[in-house]
Amino acid sequence: MSVRIRAARPSDVRAIDRLVQPLAHRQILLGKDLVAYYEAIQEFLVAVDENDTVIGCGALHVMWEDLAEVRTLAVDESQRGTGIGHRMLVTLLGRAAQLGIHRVFCLTFEVDFFARHGFTVMEGDAVDPEVYAQLLRSPDEGVAEFLDLARVKQNTLGNTRMIFEAPIAGLSEEAPDIGPSSLAGSGAQDLSSAAPDHRNA
Ligand SMILES: CC(C)(COP(=O)(O)OP(=O)(O)OC[C@H]1O[C@@H](n2cnc3c(N)ncnc32)[C@H](O)[C@@H]1OP(=O)(O)O)[C@@H](O)C(=O)NCCC(=O)NCCS
Repeated sequence: MSVRIRAARPSDVRAIDRLVQPLAHRQILLGKDLVAYYEAIQEFLVAVDENDTVIGCGALHVMWEDLAEVRTLAVDESQRGTGIGHRMLVTLLGRAAQLGIHRVFCLTFEVDFFARHGFTVMEGDAVDPEVYAQLLRSPDEGVAEFLDLARVKQNTLGNTRMIFEAPIAGLSEEAPDIGPSSLAGSGAQDLSSAAPDHRNA
């Protein structure tokens, strides 16, 4: 099967929701209302088969100047273990690099998968007190999870907080071109092909 990774479109939202809902019920992922997916659609990419059916999704949510989160990374259960998650994650890390962001957080049960891509288990706070105070003002549940706030402890139970830290030097050279053409919605290109392969790093 030929799988492409492309920028998500508003018309993908219901398929993304179908993919995420069962995982949200099992508290593996944080679910969203449909309206929140539409509002955040530019953060998302999707993996599609040859019929443009969505079989995977993932998002990069910017939290601060040099900090973002990989969230809502999911692959249809029937398609797991074939490298689709890898391609989406590499593309999301490429997006971060293109934005000049060198620290990427994730909260996950899939520790081995993320570790293979250079993520390490996070210890303590990853931000200084001033940034922490600003992040506290965010209404975003994912940011609250990053801060490990008591009100989201029920979401984070059993999850591992992990962080990817890319060397600052060389970020721009590594950044893939996922700009105007894919964001314009042509969707024709495989965004992951130009992304750095952190698995072999
Ligand atoms: C995490 C997740 C997105 C990974 O997706 P995936 O498509 O199965 O990922 P991959 O196929 O790239 O890698 C999975 C494993 O299959 C193996 N694999 C990759 N390509 C393969 C191939 N062609 N043949 C056989 N095995 C392969 C990899 O070695 C990998 O092992 P690892 O997990 O120990 O690193 C998926 O398991 C998922 O949807 N989980 C539920 C949601 C979740 O927990 N998301 C993370 C938090 S946001």
